[in-house]
Formats: sequence, structure tokens, C-alpha cells
Amino acid sequence: MFSRRASWPLNANRLHQVASARRGAGTLIDLTVSNPTDCGFAYPGAEIIAALGNAAALHYRPSPVGLTAAREAVSAYYADRGLVVSADRILLTASTSEAYSHLFRLLCDAGDDVLMPAPTYPLFEMLAGLHDVRLAPCPMLYSGGWHLDFDALLRAASPRTRAVLLVHPNNPTGSYIKAEEWQTLRQHARERNWALVVDEVFYDYAIAPATAVPLALDAGPLTFLLNGFSKIVALPQMKLGWVSVHGPAEGRQAAVARLEVINDLYLSVDAPIQHAAARILAGRHGIQDQIRARIQSNLGRLDRALAACPAVERLACEGGWSAVLRLPGVRSDEEWAELLLDRTGVLTHPGHFYEFQSGSFLVLSLLLPTQTFGQGIEKLLAAVALELNV
Ligand SMILES: Cc1ncc(COP(=O)(O)O)c(C=O)c1O
Repeated sequence: MFSRRASWPLNANRLHQVASARRGAGTLIDLTVSNPTDCGFAYPGAEIIAALGNAAALHYRPSPVGLTAAREAVSAYYADRGLVVSADRILLTASTSEAYSHLFRLLCDAGDDVLMPAPTYPLFEMLAGLHDVRLAPCPMLYSGGWHLDFDALLRAASPRTRAVLLVHPNNPTGSYIKAEEWQTLRQHARERNWALVVDEVFYDYAIAPATAVPLALDAGPLTFLLNGFSKIVALPQMKLGWVSVHGPAEGRQAAVARLEVINDLYLSVDAPIQHAAARILAGRHGIQDQIRARIQSNLGRLDRALAACPAVERLACEGGWSAVLRLPGVRSDEEWAELLLDRTGVLTHPGHFYEFQSGSFLVLSLLLPTQTFGQGIEKLLAAVALELNV
């Protein structure tokens, strides 16, 4: 009765079942929490609510690309980053995820593929599947930092490759694309007529600010930059995302015109958030400063604890909201995650959720208040040491 694309296994896996039971019993330390509104940050609540109360939202003024004032606010955000992105290249969506859906529809026919440097954001698998797009994972290389593997990328490509999906900085590795890598990738994309889809939701969360260097966008292949309120102002419940379109004028204008048609089918961004966008976006620095400080504090806590547990290594990360630990390969990532949850009540994500192809990696969120985060880390490392007998 249902399509093959909707034939997902809907049963919760064991990790999820045990975590739910422990959550119910109050014995879970969830080191995967990525909902910023649950992590004790001080939001400018009155300002956000006042912005959402704009009476202009009582009039219905449908606009498939999004209201000009909101798109100009997004353009001003890019200007603050040193990028010139005029409002006529920006289309609003209800979320970054929705922007991905629209781009899959714009770029791919059923059965086409998109290249996906991995590890990466877990939602791609389902988002691509839902649009009958095939994901072609190509592992990135780690040697004290992450790099694109162009040999792997070209091996994974096919005549049906339409685009490359890049998360910048990556979730979960936290790595930013390097300027030379970007130039090489653009050259491959130009030669093969691939589009580049660059998800920058974590762009503003660099650990060392100098790492976040804007990517060159002129005269390259057709390139789409994605972002949205879920990370930029840490409000995932305020449904606003966007895509900006770059590249040679003809392709860019054709892409904008087609995305406008797709957006027009749904008109899914509501009026209050569009009218509030400029004020909320202008207030982003306060919440971003708190999150960056939390991440620094949790990384410091993690590194101090790891100094006494050399069997576990934290991989280098340049930004974003998560950390990756490499554990000894005596157990798989799934087995480590289950053992830690069973013995200590600490929940982590096994690396395979994020398309780590091999090795025993665990992914942790760095958003939790440092005291809770530290307790979780200490329990986790004590259990690893006990298991390894060290
Ligand atoms: C890399 C990345 N892109 C997109 C999203 C989702 O963003 P949105 O809430 O705008 O759909 C997330 C959420 O965690 C993410 O990690």
C-alpha cells in the first residue's frame, strides 16, 4: 500500500529504547542533546516576542521568494560576514531541511545521485530517499584535521551525479572547507556541471574565529548556500531558513526562477516570522556568544578529563556544536554506545549515525551546561577505563 521510499523501519533501535526507559526513570545523562532551547541559555525573550507581534503579519501578502525586508536582513547578515549576497538571490524557506528538498527537486531526476563527503549530517539519507535521489558517500580523510578526498569523490561520481553536498563547518566533525579545497572542488564541479550545495548552519560557531573564512563564490559553478534560524539564532522552533544562489548569471537566474515556482507551491514560511526576521537576526550575537562560550568550556572540560584517559582521543574540531571521540577498536561504535548507556546511563551517538564508515567513534553534543556535561564525561571515561582494565 505504501511507496518503497516510505518503507522505513519505524521501530526504535535498542539504544533509543534503553535511553527512553532511562529518561522516564530519571537516570539518563543525554550527551546528544542538540536542542539549544533545553540547554539553559538566556534568550532575549521579550525582544523575540515583541518582534513576532508585528501587526503587519495580519495582512496576507503572499510572496514565493519571501518578504523583501526579511531577505534584506539575510543579505545584511552576509554583508557582516564579508559576502555580497543581494536580496534578489535569496529565497526564504521554512527550514534548511525544506531548502534541501527544494534543491533535490530542482536539480535531480529520480535515480540521479549527489555526492556526500562523509561523515556528515544524518538527515541526508532520508531527505534524499524521500526525493528518489541516490546518495553517493565519499569518505573524508582525517590526519589531525579533516580533508576532502578528491580521489574518493571522483570515484564515487557517476554520469548521473548532479551535485555535491557540503556541510561547512561539518556536522559532526566541525571542519571548515579550506580555501584550496574549495577551489579544487569548484573546478571539478565546473568541468562536470555539478551544483554545489553548501550548508552553513554552523558557520558562526567557529572555535578560533579566523577559521571561518567566507568561500569565494564568483564565476564558479552553480552554488547554493543554505542557512536558517535553527542554529544562527538557536531557535529551531521559529521556522525560517533560506537558500542563496550563486554562479554565472544565466544559470543563477534560471535557478532562482525555478525555486520561486517550487516555493510558490507551498508558501510555507509564515508571516509573523518573516516580519520578525530582521529584529531577531540582528539580536543573534548575544545567543551566539553564549553558545561559543559553552562550547569552549565543555571542550576544556572534556580535554582535561581525557588527559587522564589516553585510550580515548578527541578528534580536532574547528567549529560547530559537537565533538567526536575515537575509542579503542575492541568494540564497535554501536557496542560502545550501548555499553556506556547500560552501565552509566550516558547516551552518546555511535559514529555510524553520521556515516563514519569504520572505526569506533562516538559523537557528543557540546551544548549541555558544563556541570552536567562534565558529569557525563567523567562517568563515560570511567566506564571505558574499567572495560579496558586500564
Ligand atoms: C548540518 C545541519 N543542517 C541542517 C539542519 C537542520 O536545520 P533546519 O532546522 O533549518 O531544518 C541541522 C540540524 O541539526 C544540521 O545539523
